[in-house]
Amino acid sequence: MITLKPKSYKDIVTTPNYLKDKLPTSYDVIGNIALIKLPNDLIDFKKEIGEAILSANKNIKTVCLVKPVSGEFRVRDLEVIAGKQQTATCHKEYGLSFYLDIRKTYFSPRLANERKRISNLVQPGEIIVDMFTGVAPFSIMIAKYAEPKIVFAVDKNKDAIYYAQKNVTVNRVLDKVEVIHADALKLREILSRYKVKADRVIMNLPFSSYNFFKTALDIISNQAIIHYYDIQHEKEIDKRIKQLTELAKKNNIEIKNNKVRKIKSYSPYEFYIGIDITTKKTKIKKFADVA
Ligand SMILES: C[S@@+](CC[C@H](N)C(=O)[O-])C[C@H]1O[C@@H](n2cnc3c(N)ncnc32)[C@H](O)[C@@H]1O
Repeated sequence: MITLKPKSYKDIVTTPNYLKDKLPTSYDVIGNIALIKLPNDLIDFKKEIGEAILSANKNIKTVCLVKPVSGEFRVRDLEVIAGKQQTATCHKEYGLSFYLDIRKTYFSPRLANERKRISNLVQPGEIIVDMFTGVAPFSIMIAKYAEPKIVFAVDKNKDAIYYAQKNVTVNRVLDKVEVIHADALKLREILSRYKVKADRVIMNLPFSSYNFFKTALDIISNQAIIHYYDIQHEKEIDKRIKQLTELAKKNNIEIKNNKVRKIKSYSPYEFYIGIDITTKKTKIKKFADVA
């Protein structure tokens, strides 16, 4: 007799037939943990759904029911619904290992291609600032696959910094990545201590990046690139670009190539967008201006 391997957890889950249409078609996997969101109708069947996901995928050891990320540190409210009671794991991406705790730190496996895309843009010798580094996936991808002079990996969440430092060590990029536990708003002060300006800045704090844009403008070199991420309603995208352009202009900086990429959808009309902003200072401060 031939036993067919189930294609999906949906083939084996024991929920009433009238609810089958509501079962999510996909869920995120971070390391050996599956993260699933369920509509209210299915909450009573969370255990059955969790067990079905474990049976359908032998690499998954824990299934968590999750709410969207929230709060300053962008972490999730979650509940283990099946498998091992664990929230710490190790996620593999492009040959790199990222240790993290999904309860205490932000991580999105869906940004893997975006991280690789950015690392492909980096020129040898660049000074890079990853303003909201989390467990440092952008910084490490760049340090490993490009040849930056240095990447400053900054985060305010001390748990994220603990894992960022561990990940920098495990991936052997200690000579390329400086992990800094700080508020990104302090970056002007921090970089002045290192006596450097950034050639490239990564601003991955959707919803709030705009509040830090002035700081990014303060720390860049005469010509730089800012990778700006945001979550915006499609009707508000042009307005945001205008605000960014005006703020830059006020600071004597011209910005170009503001091509918006819709990276993933967030809600029916809202998108997680990325903009690669090319900047050029129109008034370069001479020593006399600074003194
Ligand atoms: C959306 S996560 C991005 C993490 C990382 N770049 C990634 O792709 O996995 C945003 C991060 O910004 C951090 N954060 C929030 N406010 C901050 C601030 N004022 N200064 C520095 N980091 C901050 C959060 O702790 C969180 O780790």
